[in-house]
Amino acid sequence: MNILLTGGAGYIGSHTAIELIEAGHNAVIADNFVNSNPSIVKRMNEIIGQTIPFYNIDVADVAALDEVFCKHKIDAVIHFAGLKAVGESVQIPVKYYRNNIDSTLSLLEIMAKHNVHTFIFSSSATVYGNMNNIPYIENMHVGHCSSPYAWTKLFIEQILADVAAVNSDFSVVLLRYFNPVGAHPSGKIGENPNGIPNNLFPYISQVAIGKLAELKIFGNDYPTKDGTGVRDYIHVVDLAKGHVAALEYAEKHKGVEAINLGTGTGYSVLDIVKTFEQTNNIKIPYQIVSRRAGDIAEYYADVSKALLLLNWKAKKTLADMCRDTWRWQTQNPDGYEK
Ligand code: NAD
Ligand code: UFG
Repeated sequence: MNILLTGGAGYIGSHTAIELIEAGHNAVIADNFVNSNPSIVKRMNEIIGQTIPFYNIDVADVAALDEVFCKHKIDAVIHFAGLKAVGESVQIPVKYYRNNIDSTLSLLEIMAKHNVHTFIFSSSATVYGNMNNIPYIENMHVGHCSSPYAWTKLFIEQILADVAAVNSDFSVVLLRYFNPVGAHPSGKIGENPNGIPNNLFPYISQVAIGKLAELKIFGNDYPTKDGTGVRDYIHVVDLAKGHVAALEYAEKHKGVEAINLGTGTGYSVLDIVKTFEQTNNIKIPYQIVSRRAGDIAEYYADVSKALLLLNWKAKKTLADMCRDTWRWQTQNPDGYEK
């Protein structure tokens, strides 16, 4: 199949493009580098040994998208393009609603024009909000979102359901990612946050390499096994393979399915510190500070639907996640060259 990956130069999209090509599909990428840069595409081409067609366009630009669909016979779209900084979305919500929702609407218009009916969407566990019991199951009530970013994900899920409701050819898979971490085992591509990282794994690896003095653990008084926050961390390569499985499912089924992509296991912040230290034989200095506003104590996925429908489950261990994160960090201490 010929797959268009919007946002395919980003962290998850780049890993997914590689897995798709390794599974025998063709990838076409559209990305405007708003949160990535051209050297990623070069590295992907090196890993895969071929040149992936690439378009530097804003996915909200209908005319530019139309050209891509005219040049390539696209069979399906995976829509990764979106802004994802939760804190920034609270500060500048209009930018998030504009970018994330406009890009989706443009894509839907052009897909309709070119009779493309298969849509895989990068949604997030954040749509479950803060009122559900764990583990999170796809048929739970969604909402009570804690940021404009999260609301963009939920609104887009609704838009896609509305479109599918009146188009019986449409096949939509809403992939609700838990916490993607790790990097490609080659060490050539990985997560490359701008400035000081907000997320745990990139923060720990920058402490490990000496760029940051110590990890600040946000609270040890949560009702969890050791008091620190618990999440379902999933290796980005497992997550990428989940997209290949979702595409193959979507080709054979119509309608809308929300599917969790996680491991089903929760680890605490202290579990991560300990495993990172043991796997990589390096010390992570840390101190406990107060809770971060908006954080939930603990959540992880129920992963039975992914196994049932996609015949997919995550295989990589927490040690794999720590090892691959560290390999990426040591091989690329300053991330991608600009
Ligand atoms: P990323 O920022 O690395 O990748 C997103 C890519 O989209 C970037 O390359 C960016 O340049 C591009 N982009 C953004 N808006 C665009 C536009 N209008 N036109 C063209 N390109 C545009 O993020 P990621 O971690 O790879 O996440 C991919 C998707 O998965 C996002 O939609 C994100 O919200 C979602 N998601 C991510 C996580 C996570 O923790 N990483 C968790 C849940 C969901
Ligand atoms: N944490 C620390 N110190 C840090 C960073 C994080 O203690 O410096 C803790 C957090 O308090 C939390 C855990 O580590 O308990 C994980 O935090 P992350 O920031 O890595 O991840 P979140 O679960 O907060 O958020 C992630 C994505 C969001 C997405 C959300 C739900 O970053 O984009 O999952 O899918 F919305």
